[in-house]
Amino acid sequence: MIKYAIECRNLTKAFGAFTAVDSLNLRIRKDEIFGFIGPNGAGKTTAIRMICGVLSPSAGTALVDEIDVVKNPEEVKQKIGYMAQNFILYGDLTTYENLDFYGTIYGLSQSQRKQRIKEVLELVKLQDFENYLANELSGGMKNRLSLANALLHEPKILILDEPTAGIDPPLRRTFWQFFRELNAKGTTILVTTHYLDEAKHCDRLGLISNGNLIAEGSPTEIVRKVHNGDLVQVTVRESEQDLRNILVDIDEIKEILFFRDIEPRGCQTHFVVENADSDLPKIQKLLYSYSIDVLTAGKVSISMEDAFIKLMAEGS
Ligand SMILES: Nc1ncnc2c1ncn2[C@@H]1O[C@H](COP(=O)(O)OP(=O)(O)OP(=O)(O)O)[C@@H](O)[C@H]1O
Ligand SMILES: [Mg+2]
Repeated sequence: MIKYAIECRNLTKAFGAFTAVDSLNLRIRKDEIFGFIGPNGAGKTTAIRMICGVLSPSAGTALVDEIDVVKNPEEVKQKIGYMAQNFILYGDLTTYENLDFYGTIYGLSQSQRKQRIKEVLELVKLQDFENYLANELSGGMKNRLSLANALLHEPKILILDEPTAGIDPPLRRTFWQFFRELNAKGTTILVTTHYLDEAKHCDRLGLISNGNLIAEGSPTEIVRKVHNGDLVQVTVRESEQDLRNILVDIDEIKEILFFRDIEPRGCQTHFVVENADSDLPKIQKLLYSYSIDVLTAGKVSISMEDAFIKLMAEGS
């Protein structure tokens, strides 16, 4: 059985002296939603365009459903539904005509096109707009039309470059529900987004910076990478020195980040443990045994945005 939907092997793109994608190695499993996250100019679109067979790599290659994109770009294009970042819709063609045009490019017969266009328009809820000119559609509707287009030939792999850019929150939610439904039915999805609240919808994420993959993992794993564990906050009545003397001897504590005094007396500390759920109760018990008066103790949740900014700063 083929395990990976997409595999990048030292995938590289140089534009003159500038390397936009630098030896990217990545495996995207069948059945997952994989998110590319990274700042503007990181190389996400360039990597995607190579994976889709529309831009040839300077070095390395990508396998899509085990087909080598350098050797067989046309075959790869048939496997993929690609919603490009700046997708070209023909403004003076209707919704239906745009889809019919792209359906022809995908090699669908007239009867297949008729059937599929009806289905995809219903999927993206544009069935009442099939006779509108693309120019008459709102921005969100244009995005939906681009998505419908990517779905025309029922691809098993969907590559979506900023599908939710510039669309309102309710429609973003609808899009993500829709991606999850497609995924549940067996479609692998590679998606890019700048909305970090969308990262939670992905099974795994790849953080891209300056053409390099600087972190990879589930959203929870990515957040844990910031401190290489769980971050914990403890506030006590005692002084920093009293608390520090005890904490330094506790094996469960991997790293103490800081102490700060609190009013009217006592101190607060942040430290890192492997697993807050199991380690924190042990640490609290130990502190009690030393007669330390613990006022608060709990895991500090780190937002994806903070994680992104910290990991990007470290990776650059
Ligand atoms: N055809 C090209 N010729 C020269 N440079 C290019 C070309 N295409 C992309 N680049 C450069 O490669 C870098 C990566 O661009 P890319 O579009 O892949 O970034 P991105 O991560 O998709 O950014 P964004 O989040 O803004 O979409 C940028 O510095 C860009 O200017
Ligand atoms: Mg891009």
